[in-house]
Amino acid sequence: MLEKKKQPSLAQLLENKLPKHLLSTLPHVADFVGDIGIVEIPSKLERYKNVIGEAILQTNKNLQTVLAKAGAVSGPYRLREFTAIGGVPKTETVHSEYGCRFHVDVARAYFSPRLSHEHDRIASLVQEGESVVDLFAGVGPFAVMIAKRRQTARVYAVDINPEAIALLKKNIRLNRVYGKVHPILGDARQVVSSRLADVADRVIMNLPETAIEFVDAGCRALKPEGGILHFYSFTTASHSLENIKNVFVEAVEKNGRKVDQFLYCRSVRETAPHEHQVVLDARIL
Ligand SMILES: C[S@@+](CC[C@H](N)C(=O)[O-])C[C@H]1O[C@@H](n2cnc3c(N)ncnc32)[C@H](O)[C@@H]1O
Repeated sequence: MLEKKKQPSLAQLLENKLPKHLLSTLPHVADFVGDIGIVEIPSKLERYKNVIGEAILQTNKNLQTVLAKAGAVSGPYRLREFTAIGGVPKTETVHSEYGCRFHVDVARAYFSPRLSHEHDRIASLVQEGESVVDLFAGVGPFAVMIAKRRQTARVYAVDINPEAIALLKKNIRLNRVYGKVHPILGDARQVVSSRLADVADRVIMNLPETAIEFVDAGCRALKPEGGILHFYSFTTASHSLENIKNVFVEAVEKNGRKVDQFLYCRSVRETAPHEHQVVLDARIL
């Protein structure tokens, strides 16, 4: 019987191209977005990044492109810069998660494959007939997944980034959820006050850095009888989940509403050592 040839590892591919002592510091692919692999190149490997990128392509046959992170996520659109270090120099791809496909451009609209379980969790909570407002929708991973799973749910998907809304429109077509997801370009607060007051059974607020500043818009979008808010934030060593719950309760009360019950409060993912993105699911009256 013919023995299958074993794939060389990244370190094996690079053993003659990098100083030996650096081989143990080689990065793993941090994120797979469609056929793009995203890596974080440690500063001491910076000058070798292109050979590393090409070697990563050889060890991951499904990848077309390797991008290196070239900065932190920043700005109102929550974007980061990338440098192409292997394969086709592109930032656009199609990413699949939980039976949905998403046009993504990692340099022009926020998308993280690390949130896929959260997209799935929220979509599975939505009931038929619900009206959902996604205040910070990005390219639509929550909105499209909800619409794909629930025939009679209606989702209003708001984002301030025109590129995100353009990709969301493509994703509505790609996933055949026309008429069920309503893309709206604009600032969440302004859109709620002009078009989406009192409409929602459920509001998704995935802008963890500053969601607390939009609790007024979240409360206003909910139906007068109340509903569910999915509120995202970050915990740090000095800002615990309990702190976040307290600040959230205060903000809700300031807007004339009340937290009836926290249904679920958990870490969604680790974002740095001792830092987590967390979610609070709260029933609001
Ligand atoms: C962290 S991303 C989340 C995207 C999406 N929910 C997801 O899970 O991939 C936050 C999004 O909020 C958008 N955003 C930031 N400020 C906004 C505002 N004032 N009104 C509406 N959208 C905003 C950004 O453009 C970005 O796409």
